[in-house]
Amino acid sequence: MDSSKLVDATTTPEWKALNEHHDSLTPNLRRWFDADANRASKHTHTAGDLYVDLSKNLITDETIELLGKLAEAVNLKGYTEAMFSGEHINITEDRAVLHTALRRPEGKTPELVVDGQNVDEDVHAVLKKIYAFADRVRNGEWVGITGKKIETVVNIGIGGSDLGPVMVYESLKPYKQEGLSARFISNIDPTDVAETVADLDPETTLFIVASKTFGTLETLTNARVSRAWLLNALREAGALEGKEDSEAVAKHFVAVSTALDKVAEFGIDPENAFGFWNWVGGRYSVDSAIGTSLAIVFGKDVFEDFLAGFHTMDEHFRTTEFEKNVPALMGMLNIWNVNFLGAETHAVLPYDQYLHRFPAYLQQLTMESNGKGVRMDGSPVTTSTGEVFWGEPGTNGQHAFYQLIHQGTRIIPADFIAFANPVHPAKDGEQDVHELFLANFFAQTKALAFGKTADEVRAEGTDEAIVPARVFTGNRPTTSIMASKLTPSVLGQLIALYEHITFVQGVVWGIDSFDQWGVELGKKLALELAPAVAGDREVLAQQDSSTQGLVDFYLNNRK
Ligand code: F6P
Repeated sequence: MDSSKLVDATTTPEWKALNEHHDSLTPNLRRWFDADANRASKHTHTAGDLYVDLSKNLITDETIELLGKLAEAVNLKGYTEAMFSGEHINITEDRAVLHTALRRPEGKTPELVVDGQNVDEDVHAVLKKIYAFADRVRNGEWVGITGKKIETVVNIGIGGSDLGPVMVYESLKPYKQEGLSARFISNIDPTDVAETVADLDPETTLFIVASKTFGTLETLTNARVSRAWLLNALREAGALEGKEDSEAVAKHFVAVSTALDKVAEFGIDPENAFGFWNWVGGRYSVDSAIGTSLAIVFGKDVFEDFLAGFHTMDEHFRTTEFEKNVPALMGMLNIWNVNFLGAETHAVLPYDQYLHRFPAYLQQLTMESNGKGVRMDGSPVTTSTGEVFWGEPGTNGQHAFYQLIHQGTRIIPADFIAFANPVHPAKDGEQDVHELFLANFFAQTKALAFGKTADEVRAEGTDEAIVPARVFTGNRPTTSIMASKLTPSVLGQLIALYEHITFVQGVVWGIDSFDQWGVELGKKLALELAPAVAGDREVLAQQDSSTQGLVDFYLNNRK
């Protein structure tokens, strides 16, 4: 794509038309539903196994039509093809963006060759290596230094090298192999390593150091601290007698990275390293070798289903016309919510306990991707970008922040996600608990959409003085996503759905959704400040007065 030909969406007639449409619209979901018996069916679509109801958003048929025209004006189709075919749409890093290639089935034709690399061949070669290794760990062929089977896999990574694996591990727990579990270390706070390894048996623990760059301070520090813990603990148990430390490291440490040379420097045998490529963004990497911990605890079949789910959504996104294209519609709806209705945040509310880390995962995916203030051609953005994503599982959120969504002064679009079949059916007397749970999900989206009028409140005999406080204005936009069950494939579909929504928004805003320069400054300053924190008064004296005060507080209070 040629960034000099970048369209500024906000200067297009299609943007202007949306503005005019917005000015002429008085959202009224009660009236809209009453007037159109087909409203729900018209705005409900399927993508793979997902049933997605957009009808409770503040949209009319015309809104969708105009959003479709805007998508055309910014050449969404062209950018989509450019992404799938490996053009360097990550402009500032001059890279292709090919996470979709990670889930192309083997044997798909024509083969994907990008920048001289046969991407399909390489992806499947690494997958085979991962599956073979996972099998050896699962069946006990791969053992620790004392010959014991591996029982715990500890993934050491941060950002995309952590959030995806954690979220998927939590989401698919019912699929894990008995006797095998995973833990995750990410924070450079020493508490994270200490608490994670506290009750582990070093003889049955396998660490996976997961870092795209193998240069991330947190991950390499945690890897070294974990290596020291392992060797000490093995030594104390007498397990290292007559053995070299390096033998233990080789048996208890493997790595995942695009920088296999650095893996070797760390002391991990490159034979025990799983590679990926710089065209996989960190936050788009859970389906690459970064998912090795998942392939081990869940096995090849589950991981394959997971990848197949992504691919189903990729195909839907790439080939479906706009009017039925769920990621395109949801991405454009986010544009509508942010740039025309003024939403600043977006809640994601899974009605499934297994998805409890899904909002945290989405925070990196969406905000590291679209939290940008300049466009692909280097010019400043001309409208708001990157809304804040957040959320908690229902029904916990209902008793915490839903008040603000229902009656606060801000518009907070919310995605509700639920599944028809529970993993753990339960009865409370005659009451099916999952049904009660789902009733909450349906009730919330209904209450948010249709509210409660003053007359309805009065009709309940409410004291006139508190009628206003008990009115719900309604017209609070929600999207409902349902599937039969949270399977590996459905999870892959959900992740890919949000990846593509994020992409669509980035295209409209004309930003590079695949770089993350915003995290660099803090990293650099931390390294510069480290000597001051260690007591170097000369370095401290060069800091601003607030930083000096804070570091001083630390130096005066440390024991
Ligand atoms: O937060 C910045 C970032 O580069 C993320 O994009 C990435 O997921 C994370 O750091 C970890 O990077 P790495 O996998 O290279 O250790």
